[in-house]
Amino acid sequence: MKTILVTGGAGFIGSNFVHYLLENYDDLTIVNLDLLTYAGNLDNLADIAEDKRYTFVRGDIHDRALVEELFDKWDFDTVVNFAAESHVDRSITDPDLFLTTNVLGTQTLLDVAKNHWKLDPKDRYSREFKEGVKYLQVSTDEVYGALGPTGMFTETTPLAPNSPYSASKASADFVVRAYDKTYGMPVNITRCSNNYGPYQFPEKLIPLMINNCLAEKSLPVYGDGMQIRDWLYVEDHCAAICAVLEKGALGEVYNIGGNNERANIEIVKLILENTGKSEDLIVHVKDRPGHDRRYAIDNTKITGTLGWSPKYTFQTGMAQTIEWYLHHREWMDKIVSGEYLKYYENMYANR
Ligand code: NAD
Ligand code: TYD
Repeated sequence: MKTILVTGGAGFIGSNFVHYLLENYDDLTIVNLDLLTYAGNLDNLADIAEDKRYTFVRGDIHDRALVEELFDKWDFDTVVNFAAESHVDRSITDPDLFLTTNVLGTQTLLDVAKNHWKLDPKDRYSREFKEGVKYLQVSTDEVYGALGPTGMFTETTPLAPNSPYSASKASADFVVRAYDKTYGMPVNITRCSNNYGPYQFPEKLIPLMINNCLAEKSLPVYGDGMQIRDWLYVEDHCAAICAVLEKGALGEVYNIGGNNERANIEIVKLILENTGKSEDLIVHVKDRPGHDRRYAIDNTKITGTLGWSPKYTFQTGMAQTIEWYLHHREWMDKIVSGEYLKYYENMYANR
């Protein structure tokens, strides 16, 4: 991996990944292609914007001419696709956009990369690709659907997505698989559990609850709050992606998770405790339609075959995360003062 196209690098995980690469690899050129939707934020990358190894391009992964132009100019050997519409609640109100970006955008990236990387792009029977190239699709455990009180998702669990978001991510995974099976394209898919950490947009559980605590606003817990997610600190996710890029067997899927199952209400109470606020702020609101009850990742494939394991415990990761938001109030204030107010009103009023 020498010249890498990172898409969606101005979002939460993508911006953490760009930081991670620059901190851990010297000899690397990174191009970040991001449309800067509501979720993309160049403030996340302000400290590295002038780094000579890094270039930002504003644009859409579904814009074929632009993606071709970038491949011609930079001759990428690696693509890591983070770009996506990523919020389940928004997918319930606006599913179209999720299908366009997450499925068609992924297919555009794959197709341009295939044509650029095939040794003989005109020979439709040839399955030979340049040495050392790889396309990595950043997917999610949500493609597997929901679990009952027991069991875990393995890489062979059948895909059974329940929300428009997870359906679009599962569809994209199938397109990636098809490019491997049909054209012999060198790909990997990673399916990670819920991430938390710095630069997460406050529509997601943890930054939303931290922000509301600091503003002394009510904390909207969906339903009984006993839904379970398997939380991973974002830097551990970035390290896992690098392990898959470097050592992942071609065509394989890798689940990524830290064995950290927590009920939502437990997390909300932890945030209240750490910010010194009262549990009276908790309000149980109408549940999300089709809400998945429980996710849990079996990570034995990636830990056993690639030697990756999480460095952060839930305690160390959460302490660092809450600390980060407390020390970056201006980052949060800038987001929550604009369009976000309308989003919040629309999503939570009369709920
Ligand atoms: P995010 O919403 O914070 O960021 C998404 C980024 O993609 C934004 O910068 C946005 O501007 C950009 N983008 C959106 N549409 C685009 C387009 N058409 N062209 C170019 N850029 C576009 O999302 P995130 O939480 O950082 O998630 C990143 C990826 O990881 C997603 O693919 C998501 O499905 C996956 N994932 C997320 C989690 C999680 O817990 N957040 C867990 C597992 C997998
Ligand atoms: P979220 O951060 O949206 O991630 P995902 O839906 O991809 O798992 O939500 C995490 C959990 O928190 C999920 O069970 C829904 C719940 N939740 C609330 O209870 N209240 C909220 O305001 C939000 C945003 C989420």
